[in-house]
Amino acid sequence: MITEKNKVFMLTTRETSYIFRVLPSGHLENLHYGDRLREQDFRAIHMKQNAGAGSSVLYRDGAMSLDLLPLEYAPNGKGDYRIMPLEMEMPDGSFVTDFVYAGHEIIEEALPMETLPTAYGEDAMTLIVTLRDKLFPVTLKLIYTVFYDADVITRRVLLKNGTDQILKVRKIMSASLDLLSESYDVITLDGGWIREAHAHRRNHAYGTLVNESSTGSSSNRHNPGVILARPGTTEDHGRCYGVNLLYSGNHHTAVEVSSHGIVRVMTGISPHNFLWPLAPGAVFEAPEAVLTTSGKGVNDLSHHFHDFVNHHVIPERWSGKERPVLLNNWEATFFDFNERKILSMAREAKKLGVELFVLDDGWFGERNDDTAGLGDYEVNRKKLPGGIRGLADKINAMGLYFGLWFEPEMVNEDSALFRKHPEYAIRVPGRKPSKGRNQLVLDLAREEVQNYIISQVETVLASAPIAYVKWDMNRHISDLYSEAVPHQGMAFHSYILGLYRVLRKITEDFPDVLFESCSSGGNRFDLGMLCYMPQTWASDNTDPIERLKIQGGLSYFYPPSTMGAHVSQSPHQQTLRRTPLETRFHAATFGLLGYELDLQHLNLKEKEEISQQISWYKSHRKLMQFGRFYRYDEEKDNRVNFMVVSEDQEKAVLGNFQILQKPSPSFDVLRLKGLLKERLYQVETVKASMDIEAYGELLKHITPVKLKPGGLILRNARKIYRLPHNVERYEAYGDLLQSGIRISQQFMGTGYSKETRMLGDFGSQLMTVISKEEVENGDR
Ligand code: GLA
Repeated sequence: MITEKNKVFMLTTRETSYIFRVLPSGHLENLHYGDRLREQDFRAIHMKQNAGAGSSVLYRDGAMSLDLLPLEYAPNGKGDYRIMPLEMEMPDGSFVTDFVYAGHEIIEEALPMETLPTAYGEDAMTLIVTLRDKLFPVTLKLIYTVFYDADVITRRVLLKNGTDQILKVRKIMSASLDLLSESYDVITLDGGWIREAHAHRRNHAYGTLVNESSTGSSSNRHNPGVILARPGTTEDHGRCYGVNLLYSGNHHTAVEVSSHGIVRVMTGISPHNFLWPLAPGAVFEAPEAVLTTSGKGVNDLSHHFHDFVNHHVIPERWSGKERPVLLNNWEATFFDFNERKILSMAREAKKLGVELFVLDDGWFGERNDDTAGLGDYEVNRKKLPGGIRGLADKINAMGLYFGLWFEPEMVNEDSALFRKHPEYAIRVPGRKPSKGRNQLVLDLAREEVQNYIISQVETVLASAPIAYVKWDMNRHISDLYSEAVPHQGMAFHSYILGLYRVLRKITEDFPDVLFESCSSGGNRFDLGMLCYMPQTWASDNTDPIERLKIQGGLSYFYPPSTMGAHVSQSPHQQTLRRTPLETRFHAATFGLLGYELDLQHLNLKEKEEISQQISWYKSHRKLMQFGRFYRYDEEKDNRVNFMVVSEDQEKAVLGNFQILQKPSPSFDVLRLKGLLKERLYQVETVKASMDIEAYGELLKHITPVKLKPGGLILRNARKIYRLPHNVERYEAYGDLLQSGIRISQQFMGTGYSKETRMLGDFGSQLMTVISKEEVENGDR
């Protein structure tokens, strides 16, 4: 809902209000962003300046200093010395701008952009406030879109050059928001390859903190999402604000705590190597920034983001649509496969319940390792004599969908494409380019490169029944230089504009293909990519203990329905850590379940376990992919809990993960979340069993005959028998479950019963929660 009365704008969502007004000077003062307020006289929350303030520079004679006001989009060079949202060289050569209110318009929908992806939604409403510079005919439109049900407000700007000279834009933020507070805890997701999206929280009380990327993509170093939480805010209590950006290139979020208790947070394209000459008459569209707030803790804030992504960001046709369980051959074969091997993997996968088989890297050109072939999407007939069509048909005939890997934005020097078109690769004339993973990046700012990619990918997609595409991008950009742009300060952003054109065309031409974006894992996990591809490969790291941090971190901004999560071999290829198959599944089940391991190396018991996992996941899939996801504050270092609750609050699943076993540990209390207080539920552990090898020498004391630990008999027994453990079941009302249940004791050094929780290092358990009514209806 958006209203305007006497130049006071009220943007209202289900639980929040965003209010600002036009000052007599024409600047916009932010009055409130927080809990929902009724319409009233807002003079009580105007900032009162009635005398000068020390050394402040005054905008008007009398009292007004812009530096002391919470502003919507501050003018540059007029006495506000905080970080600036817009910096550009004006026709007079100065950087001074003074944008003031010139009019506004309220429309009943979201406004799609020409060049960049935009959030959509039937309930969306948009406010466009036009500001005009006081000296030159340059206009700045501040665009606010309200997504009522998701409790999200998006912001972006449109800059139009009405002068007859080029404006040089050095920095243009999509949104700038001033909040009244002395300090905030800032939460960011940082990391690198195989340790993406680790959440970091630190108090920020003075100066400027910047979260940005400069690699050319949103990056695995710093995700674009940022949270500001009042000190003391927890997962379930307290005020916090979140910002994110629908953009896949270099991003920038800065938080400045000013000297007068105002915190300015702004987000947009990174000014790193950015310069955009805006021609007379031209318009610059800044990407859409996402804002949300909650007074009920960080979980609630995440739920706003999750609703927003599920209903307003990912392609509408995938919204709420359940995703298939897949098997990917990468970790099992790398480049070394042929049709026979692939078909036998697929056959085995089908037996276990897998629905989609994905052929990863290595199927085209001379791609037998990572030094050659990128750019040439002609199938390698030595490996696949029947081509992609032949293979896909055979896989379909088994009752599986078929999916394929591409890395269309890249080229190897050793490729037919590079030999024919070396000019397609990004590099500075006269300099030897740096390489990453033996490859160069194609210049997506060039239209002929965009068209080449579109035609290559579309030819393959049209040639065979391909239901899924993994779209990879495996290196950062360096040596940036593009023939396609008049100024090299445009190159990074133009790459992203080119990429979006390619993605828009291919995903529109093949609307039924499920696209999963990937960039060496989660190097491009952002809302921009999600606008075209509803899911992202979260990390090449499939070690479940690492995944708790990665998926837990991503969950601040992105719902489980966006996170590819696979069960792989142990010891793990990325950490060499050994973990139980159960835990690998439990971590992956809180995302989009897949398998990425050599099925031939599994014993019968493991195959049986996997088949049970898949059938359990299928029957809980809607809940696991689209349920409300909760994190826990407790003991994050040694115990991690995840919980998902269905929208109607009738069903839930809780995952309880232990990192390391403590000797004679204390009793665990589990506080369930998101349930209805008055509802009677049945809580039950999901059937669990453990490898008898975990007992080591202890086994010989409990078996009737003395057996040699590690001997032939036990080695064979392992393949067919596992010990049940952790059997628990309760009935209780939601209020009791939320106050905390005391679950069964863990192994304390002596004894065993099937109730005891034998978690050990890296152990875990799942519990299902179902309302009694549902149980009685037979829906278990
Ligand atoms: C990247 C991806 C992997 C795999 C390889 C193939 O590293 O993240 O999942 O597809 O490329 O080369």
